[in-house]
Amino acid sequence: MPNRSNRRQFLQTTAATGIGFWVAGGLRAEESKSPNEKVRMASVGIGGKGSSDSGDAGSKGQMVAICDVDTSRLEAAGKRFPGAKMFTDFRKMLEEMEKDIDAVTVSTPDHTHAPAALMAMRMGKHCFCQKPLTHTIYEARLMGQVAREKKLATQMGNQGTAMPGLRKGAALLRANVLGKVSEVHVWTNRPIWPQGGDRPAPTPCPAHLKWPEWLNVAPDRPYANGYHPFSWRGWWDFGTGALGDMACHTVNMPYMGLQLRDPVSVQAVTSGHNKDSYPKWSIITFEFPANDWRPGLKMVWYDGGKRPDKALLHGKDASGSGCAVIGEKGLLYSPNDYGADFEFIGDIDKDAKVDFPQSPGHFDEWVNAIKGGPQPMSNFPDYAGPLTETILLGNLAVWVADKGEGQKVEWDPKGLKVKNISGLEQIVKPVYRSGYTLDV
Ligand SMILES: NC(=O)c1ccc[n+]([C@@H]2O[C@H](COP(=O)([O-])OP(=O)(O)OC[C@H]3O[C@@H](n4cnc5c(N)ncnc54)[C@H](O)[C@@H]3O)[C@@H](O)[C@H]2O)c1
Repeated sequence: MPNRSNRRQFLQTTAATGIGFWVAGGLRAEESKSPNEKVRMASVGIGGKGSSDSGDAGSKGQMVAICDVDTSRLEAAGKRFPGAKMFTDFRKMLEEMEKDIDAVTVSTPDHTHAPAALMAMRMGKHCFCQKPLTHTIYEARLMGQVAREKKLATQMGNQGTAMPGLRKGAALLRANVLGKVSEVHVWTNRPIWPQGGDRPAPTPCPAHLKWPEWLNVAPDRPYANGYHPFSWRGWWDFGTGALGDMACHTVNMPYMGLQLRDPVSVQAVTSGHNKDSYPKWSIITFEFPANDWRPGLKMVWYDGGKRPDKALLHGKDASGSGCAVIGEKGLLYSPNDYGADFEFIGDIDKDAKVDFPQSPGHFDEWVNAIKGGPQPMSNFPDYAGPLTETILLGNLAVWVADKGEGQKVEWDPKGLKVKNISGLEQIVKPVYRSGYTLDV
């Protein structure tokens, strides 16, 4: 593969047009493919969302390896990718095929994102990883650092980031059409999986599932029906609850438009939980400090049937998922998973002209970046990492809110530390089981 590190620095299209103001310039793949070369892809987790991620990887590149711990899913995917080698352990796949792989997609349960993605990126592989970027805050910071150090093309799977509606909404917020913004409210109809209960009783593990590999870096526990597939979302060891599942979508537009990162405090009210399963519902308040172009503001998250007060939304519906941004001139209301459709209520210049960069498509942004194009919008160091850190901070507040209102968690975003409560270190930074590497 030719070394193309001396090619011109890429033009910061997003920075030039206004909404990419926090996208640092000059990230370039050390070894990028030429536009005509096929990117040699490997996919980790090829069932569920991994089915479409591996489909994208295989259609836009050449699939050389697939990995899944469920052999029935793996064999089914093998028929879609007859030329690909099959694995049930991503460590083996990466070690054996290091020289044959350029880029990796990761679509596993949340707790396995960082172990797989970090190993791949440390080997210099470009990475597309599902949302939330990681299971813990420390992993999100580390993923960004490794991606930057290795100059890799990276993209998180919050596909709304590429939608013109989301980018326009963000650009309008950035253009201050609402005047001074004081509050953001975000809600979801999740969880649509069990949360707030006790562990299911152990059951025999089906022969097609490699349970130790599925557990991966998580603490040991016996197999039971109710984790794989999909329902792992409700368990602290594997998922990130309703917040982690949806906020990288529903918070994304206000995050882009209002630069909602590095909150200084977070506080939750919950239905109560046993620190094994997430609560049935939670309401979480994030406080963001003022920055050089907008005042401080608060964001409130609602899940499990909780909703913002109808009066705040001027009577609008909050039964699905969506967000509302309240400014001195009125309200932006978006009853949409991605913030890509919205309306304004109040004396607002709805026709304000704003520029925002058009995307060739979320996955294409990543493939183009591997071939020397601009870094994708939801790249790990500048966008997806800080978004995931912010969102997962909400789960720290949920952790301390055993029932009812929890203590306010005061946060030092630079040092990645809780300032006022001890004992949360393992929620911020996990301990991997032996055989898997977090820090090197
Ligand atoms: N962007 C989106 O709209 C969207 C939608 C759904 C899910 N997701 C994300 O995709 C990820 C997967 O969610 P899902 O609903 O597909 O879950 P799932 O449980 O249905 O599928 C996960 C797949 O990964 C496999 N797997 C588990 N551990 C593995 C390991 N260690 N190595 C290799 N394969 C492994 C499983 O066997 C399964 O095939 C999550 O992070 C989720 O948040 C994103």
